[in-house]
Amino acid sequence: MGILDKHKVLEKNATLLLVCSLAVVTIGGIVEIAPLFYLENTIEDVEGVRPYSPLELAGREIYIREGCYVCHSQMIRPMRDEQERYGHYSLAAESQYDHPHQWGSKRTGPDLARVGGRYSDEWHVDHLTNPQSVVPESVMPKYGFLLDRNIDGEYITDLLETHAMVGVPYTEEMIASANADFRVQVNPDADWDGLVERYPGAVVSNFDGQPQLTEMDALVAYLQMLGTLVDFSTFTPDASR
Ligand code: HEC
Repeated sequence: MGILDKHKVLEKNATLLLVCSLAVVTIGGIVEIAPLFYLENTIEDVEGVRPYSPLELAGREIYIREGCYVCHSQMIRPMRDEQERYGHYSLAAESQYDHPHQWGSKRTGPDLARVGGRYSDEWHVDHLTNPQSVVPESVMPKYGFLLDRNIDGEYITDLLETHAMVGVPYTEEMIASANADFRVQVNPDADWDGLVERYPGAVVSNFDGQPQLTEMDALVAYLQMLGTLVDFSTFTPDASR
């Protein structure tokens, strides 16, 4: 009975109850807020992670606009079944430059954190145009209209600048060449040395096979880079983080 009897004192004295409630809430608040001040220490920079190329960034905007995150996560958890299916667990650094992050909260479809390079560009175009043509039982909607929507990069410089404003390390050079890089990435015949130097590992390809630059190009460029930036054959996690 001992401890329950003592609780009676609290319940019968409104002032004491208020003071003790405040104490409890304060402790809870500190426990939640204090770690945020040490957040910097927990962010491990990982070799290979870079800001998105202008075309990838535009594709990411389409991914968000179309609500792909409603059915797809981008976060492989460190559990055996997930790693066997999707690959190495996701690193915090891999979504370091995501504003907002695309971790998602539901998997109607598979996790996409490492879908880059898993399929050909043609597969992605076929699949996005008509998912049931490649996976008959798929419940994924059709996104064929993306093939008809041309994009000209009118706002791509603004988009990079906006991301720079919230902390993505886009350099002046990257911003100055954003418009050119945007076009070069879909044109394997162009001089794309500068693009690949600025954005190592960027895939240069006419993603949708059409001469004009479309939203499909941008989306597939984004999908093809997902999870490909870190070389896991040489990566060793810093256990102290
Ligand atoms: C209604 C839920 C839903 C939405 C919305 C959705 N998908 Fe899917 N997606 C699925 C399902 C289910 C599958 C698994 C069957 C298949 O491959 O079609 C899938 C599979 C995929 C795959 C193949 C993944 C793999 O590893 O095999 C990719 C890539 C993909 N979706 C991209 C997208 C993109 C990009 C969008 C937004 C334009 C999107 N999905 C929107 C449900 C969805």
